[in-house]
Amino acid sequence: NVHKLADYRPYPFVLSATRMRFRLSPGNTRVHAELSLAPRDAQQAADLVLDGGKAVRLLALTIDGQPLDPAHVTRQEETLTIAADALPRHPFLLETEVEIDPSANTACEGLYISNGMFCTQCEAEGFRHITFYPDRPDVMATFYVTIDSDLPVLLSNGNPVGQSQGRAEWHDPWPKPSYLFALVAGDLVAVSDSFTTRSGRKVALNVWVRPGDQDRAGFAMESLIKSMKWDEDVYGREYDLDVFNIVAVDDFNMGAMENKGLNIFNSKLVLASPETATDGDYERIEAVIAHEYFHNWTGNRITCRDWFQLCLKEGLTVFRDQQFTSDMRSAAVKRIEDVQALRARQFREDQGPLAHPPRPDRYEEINNFYTATVYEKGAEVIGMLKRLVGDDGYRRALDLYFDRHDGDAATIEDWLKVFEDATGRDLAQFKRWYTDAGTPRLTMIEDWQDGTLALTFTQETPPTPGQAQKLPRVIPVAVGLIGPNGDEVTPTQVLEVTEASQTFTFAGLGARPVVSALRGFSAPVMLSRDLDDATRAFLLAHDTDPFARWEAGRELALSALIAASQGKTVTGDYVDAIGRLIADDAADPAFRALCLNLPGEEEIATRLSSEGLTPDPDAIHAARELLARQIAETHLDLLSQLYEDMTVEGPYIPDAAGTAGRSLRNAVLALLTRIDGGERAEILFGIASNMTERMAALTSLLRRGRGQAELAALQDQFAGNRLVMDKWFAVQPMAAPPLQAAAVARDLSQRKDFDWKNPNRFRALLGGLAANHAGFHAADGSGYDFTADWLLRMDVLNPQMAARLSTAFETWTRYDPGRRAKALAALERIAASEGLSKNTREMVSRMIAAG
Ligand code: ARG
Ligand code: ZN
Repeated sequence: NVHKLADYRPYPFVLSATRMRFRLSPGNTRVHAELSLAPRDAQQAADLVLDGGKAVRLLALTIDGQPLDPAHVTRQEETLTIAADALPRHPFLLETEVEIDPSANTACEGLYISNGMFCTQCEAEGFRHITFYPDRPDVMATFYVTIDSDLPVLLSNGNPVGQSQGRAEWHDPWPKPSYLFALVAGDLVAVSDSFTTRSGRKVALNVWVRPGDQDRAGFAMESLIKSMKWDEDVYGREYDLDVFNIVAVDDFNMGAMENKGLNIFNSKLVLASPETATDGDYERIEAVIAHEYFHNWTGNRITCRDWFQLCLKEGLTVFRDQQFTSDMRSAAVKRIEDVQALRARQFREDQGPLAHPPRPDRYEEINNFYTATVYEKGAEVIGMLKRLVGDDGYRRALDLYFDRHDGDAATIEDWLKVFEDATGRDLAQFKRWYTDAGTPRLTMIEDWQDGTLALTFTQETPPTPGQAQKLPRVIPVAVGLIGPNGDEVTPTQVLEVTEASQTFTFAGLGARPVVSALRGFSAPVMLSRDLDDATRAFLLAHDTDPFARWEAGRELALSALIAASQGKTVTGDYVDAIGRLIADDAADPAFRALCLNLPGEEEIATRLSSEGLTPDPDAIHAARELLARQIAETHLDLLSQLYEDMTVEGPYIPDAAGTAGRSLRNAVLALLTRIDGGERAEILFGIASNMTERMAALTSLLRRGRGQAELAALQDQFAGNRLVMDKWFAVQPMAAPPLQAAAVARDLSQRKDFDWKNPNRFRALLGGLAANHAGFHAADGSGYDFTADWLLRMDVLNPQMAARLSTAFETWTRYDPGRRAKALAALERIAASEGLSKNTREMVSRMIAAG
């Protein structure tokens, strides 16, 4: 059952208002719905097709108060159809009464129960498990919702319009598609504050949590207030209701959801205290609170016409949350972190059997397309657009977008058109970034003659599933030139590569400069250029662009690691350059930390396979250990000194400065632990009062095969804290020596507190193992087998979770024949399972097809 972009047709009915009444009960909830419908075209009779999942039981159905002749009503697996003959040619009211069973809903989609609390997740197609409805984003209505329940807190979208014993009424005046619907009912308490918009609307803000968690919700509230202010200042976007509610739930498939006026969050992205959350958690909470809030304009006020356009809201909203984080913290650090994440997840996706364009044109299960390509590459594409049209052009285009499309369900074509209209630029070629999959390979060749430097760029994108041939794209390449003495002779300029091969010249140069290319990672491409290690070290020392500077160090590290993994001797350039950086007290600590963290094993494997080589996970692991040890031994004194100097004094503050100091010190600790037998890490674990340092110490110890006492201590202290125990479950398979990783995971899976039905706990264990590159890809197939066993178990309960974690296998074709055979056997075992969900089936068959 494939859905195709080309098949889009408007819904044949217009829905103006939806009234719903819920009578909540765990085992049998009644949902009454009234839909104010009208034929889109009175001349053309059409059947009324409503979506409705298998478990929705129809109790009553009327049109304008009249029951229907059953002959006109057809129930199929996923739909309910009312024949055109039975429908009025004028506006009419469709009333339904259905029964659903939230207590039996284990998929975390639709209306379900998490820890005694009713909650919903409707994006993408969860609403159809609540009632019969045109469950598609281009059908938008205002909602009136009544909730009957004895639970103390009853929430839905929009503004509260009535509250009495056992009943709450909500009205959302902004027309919205069903995927933005939400309902929450439970025993909750709020951390409250308020925000006054710049036009004077006073908005009540609440972060709802379970009693006892209030003291961990303050940071989320601060982040919300900062986000609201930032969106006014930077995008001119104001909030548009009287209340904004956020609810934290423990069972949630993804990170969070932007339901209008009622955002629902995975509790790990709300709750934080210094003792339980790391610096990374704090940064993510701030970013995701912002992300969901920003969706109010980019997603809710302007939504998507259909799910093929998902990156219209997600790419833009990720881009906006990235801008927000750069403004709140360090722009340089944020950019480097984002590029690292893009390469680790999106480049990997683009290289394998699951590659797809930011705007796919076909899918079987839309939940399988909430991917790094749609989100993160979708954001990169917007970054390129901004670079091409400039900051002013971007601002004008966005103003026009909000102006022209407010209230619309829009498309990527609409989005590109506002840029064309606001800036006069033709974006026909640029559009390929949305429609073509794959990471372009860009080669740069330098030619120096008589004071003129010529840069020749050649681009090529390898084939991806369903797309054999690719045409050249518009690639903005930000370039600067650095003179031999280290001074910048030509500041950054953006070269627009549009041809398969193209040359740009810089004339009138006194001496041959060093080229700093792809500054700021100006396009999501793989750049290859012939650069020796000495020149890389020069750029690492002198580049004025922080990303390019870091990248030079990264390339040095990669070339050393790749040489070592192939059994070649490593030149001293990288180790020397790192020494200079360790000693450079003037450099930003966060930047130094980013340079000290060696590229991960997965990143090395991705690089090797992009060069057509077969990565050997064990050799890569050994090479990385070797290089880390070499750095630690060579610079032992400097590192020991730095470790002492970097002690962060005073109370724990999770801001950019505090985070930077801790990140450098922890990077140094990871190196030192390789030779001090774990002494420093044990001491740090014992005295640290914050989770950032304790996790860093624990991880370092586990990687050395130690840390059992520390694990026991954490468990004693935090047995009742789910989020900390999730970390406890994740870190063990992740940091285990590779040959033990699957066994460690298997032992953990036998524990009583491995509550695998909880998505966070399941992801902790399975994701922890998948993050151990050499462990997951152990040559004996133990990682593959363990993962396949649990995916099969999870698929029965929660298909979305199983499908999502099946991406652990997405790189299987890269490896040697022995591993490939074992991975394929695991995938085939999953595929052969009877009753496999369509989610997992789609994923597994795409992966098998690449074999
Ligand atoms: N729109 C949400 C976000 O990015 C993601 C929800 C996706 N959920 C899902 N089940 N596919 O903020
Ligand atoms: Zn989003």
